[in-house]
Amino acid sequence: MFNQKFSNGIISAKQFSREDIDYILKKGKEMINIKNSNLLQGKILATLFFEPSTRTRLSFESAMYRLGGNVIGFHSSDVSSIKKGETIADTIRTVENYSDCIVMRHSLEGAATLAAKFAKIPIINAGSGSGEHPTQALLDLLTISEEIGPLDGLNIGLMGDLKYGRTVHSLSILLSNYNVNVYFISPVQLRMRNRDKDFLQQRQINYKEIINYRKILSILDVLYMTRIQKERFVDSEEYEKIKNYYHFMKEDLKETKDNFRLLHPLPRITEISPDVDNSEKAIYFKQTSYGIPMRKALLAELMID
Ligand code: NCD
Repeated sequence: MFNQKFSNGIISAKQFSREDIDYILKKGKEMINIKNSNLLQGKILATLFFEPSTRTRLSFESAMYRLGGNVIGFHSSDVSSIKKGETIADTIRTVENYSDCIVMRHSLEGAATLAAKFAKIPIINAGSGSGEHPTQALLDLLTISEEIGPLDGLNIGLMGDLKYGRTVHSLSILLSNYNVNVYFISPVQLRMRNRDKDFLQQRQINYKEIINYRKILSILDVLYMTRIQKERFVDSEEYEKIKNYYHFMKEDLKETKDNFRLLHPLPRITEISPDVDNSEKAIYFKQTSYGIPMRKALLAELMID
């Protein structure tokens, strides 16, 4: 069972020790073989999505239904009272009376932390601005451990928008619990934030910052690509200049090891050529399937006493 430190829910990847990650990966693996059950019968999950989502919201909802529970919620701030000027705190203090757990996505970096402060039920951070997206990072680790093997010893590249991408922030925090070599591959303007690099440094994790991924492609076990986060740019001209910075092509795969795997949290824009999709090394669609067992495991932990 999850301990006391998860009683407010899952806000940041920093809440997880290696022991916690190994535990939830084990639970996630078990859930792969349990398609439907009535584990969460009578429980209600509220999904509050103030920002667009396809995979995260639908996999949380599907996971809840597959465990016998029910879902309420909204998928746009346009249809909630936030539109009328209601605060996050007031929304949370209302929705907690209607549900057993709240999954929330919001454009503000501190939104999930704030929500957890007011809620008496667990909050799950499903993406907080350019801050974090911890449950995505957990499903990414489940993907790696199922499709590649144990994390220790792997050479892992995180590539694309490392400044604004919340998935890579949470993933690098989780990876700092393992003995991995991390390569941060990005244009100079979109480098990993100092606070995330400091976190790795404190934990004595080897990392290198690189611009040209082709230089290290042959040694990587995992390349985790991300899209340039258009909606976070203050200056749209800056986005236009940088949006096509990377374009991973089929030819690139020739340089990679046999057991190399290409991941992406999706949505993919132009950073991976569609002709890469058919390669057995491209596992980003398979990766989406691990959202269900991981989220089932998390929901069960948070809602069963
Ligand atoms: C990501 C997100 O919302 O941060 N998507 C997801 O949850 N799978 C990645 C992105 O939007 O680029």
